[in-house]
Amino acid sequence: MAVNDVAPYLAGLPIAALAIDASERVVAMNPVAISLLGEGLINRHYISVLRQPVILDAVEAIIQDRATRNCRFLSNDSGSDTAFNVTCYAILDDYVIVCFEDQTGIEQVVQMRRDFVANVSHELKTPLTAMMGFIETLQTTARDDAQARGRFLNVMASETQRMNRLVGDLLSLSRVEADERMRPTTSLDVKDLIQAALDAIAPLAQDHDAQVVFEAPEDPIEIFADKDQLQQVFTNLIENAIKYSGKGAQVGLELGAPEFDPRLGETAVTITINDNGPGIDPIHLPRLTERFYRIDNHRSRELGATGLGLAIVKHILNRHRGRLKIDSSLGQGSQFSVILPSVKKRPADQF
Ligand SMILES: Nc1ncnc2c1ncn2[C@@H]1O[C@H](COP(=O)(O)OP(=O)(O)OP(=O)(O)O)[C@@H](O)[C@H]1O
Ligand SMILES: [Mg+2]
Repeated sequence: MAVNDVAPYLAGLPIAALAIDASERVVAMNPVAISLLGEGLINRHYISVLRQPVILDAVEAIIQDRATRNCRFLSNDSGSDTAFNVTCYAILDDYVIVCFEDQTGIEQVVQMRRDFVANVSHELKTPLTAMMGFIETLQTTARDDAQARGRFLNVMASETQRMNRLVGDLLSLSRVEADERMRPTTSLDVKDLIQAALDAIAPLAQDHDAQVVFEAPEDPIEIFADKDQLQQVFTNLIENAIKYSGKGAQVGLELGAPEFDPRLGETAVTITINDNGPGIDPIHLPRLTERFYRIDNHRSRELGATGLGLAIVKHILNRHRGRLKIDSSLGQGSQFSVILPSVKKRPADQF
């Protein structure tokens, strides 16, 4: 088989691939391989093209025994390491094919899972350690001290609430992720959903002397929604606006009439939640919806926050094919906009 037959075979592969012939020269490279290894490498000896010892050993061995081999290749093009799974195999009588599969995506997922487990363990360990300390004190030094017992039990109650909240948030997150691909099919008035969230949050608003004002058009605005999930979106966002703005917060909720949203490519409603709080430094904005991301770790924790609220919001909005937009700068308050596709009226409904 001639090299002209090998080249089209490589060109069709979606991953980087090159062919080495019996004279140990690189005789064909597909476009992905050219962008990975560079131009002008055809007819060069494979040692000067591949360079990394593990691949050279694999190719050398395969030339001898023609048995397929796998190894890892690290490229450091743009300053960051990219890992490739390299497969070398023999075809026909004369050729060795070397393929490079980019592993970055998979490695990122593995790293994210590792970070997630570490974060969850850390978040649970703090209240657990506190609880263990209190239990030990109650069993020993404070055994007969009724006053200390009452005080410690109060702290233990709040630590347990914290753990309970964390576990509840984790369960919501995994439930939302599990049905993220199933689009809700029930048509609901978005005003009712917001009103239900406002009712649920009323005690917190009262505690913080917060004033919450809701403005909406008269007519119902229908969206396809999972009632509980969207209520959770609005509850989380209003709760943040109240919690992070300190005492006497002014929180405004505005529901606009449906209009075409270019990013979603369809007609959508926008609900904005704005506050007069401290605002958020723009450097934090891209990471705000990551799990466990908190700007002021210490202060958020004191407020009993776990940093999962906006991650849950993001997943719920993904499921609803909507999006979240955050506008904020330090000292200017914050504005969170929820954009959701609205139910299209059938022509008959318009008459
Ligand atoms: N309206 C806001 N004003 C200022 N900072 C905010 C606002 N909303 C969110 N943040 C910041 O974003 C971080 C992430 O918010 P998120 O709701 O995801 O988590 P949380 O409120 O810390 O915890 P949880 O919602 O799980 O109780 C918060 O810790 C806070 O620092
Ligand atoms: Mg929150």
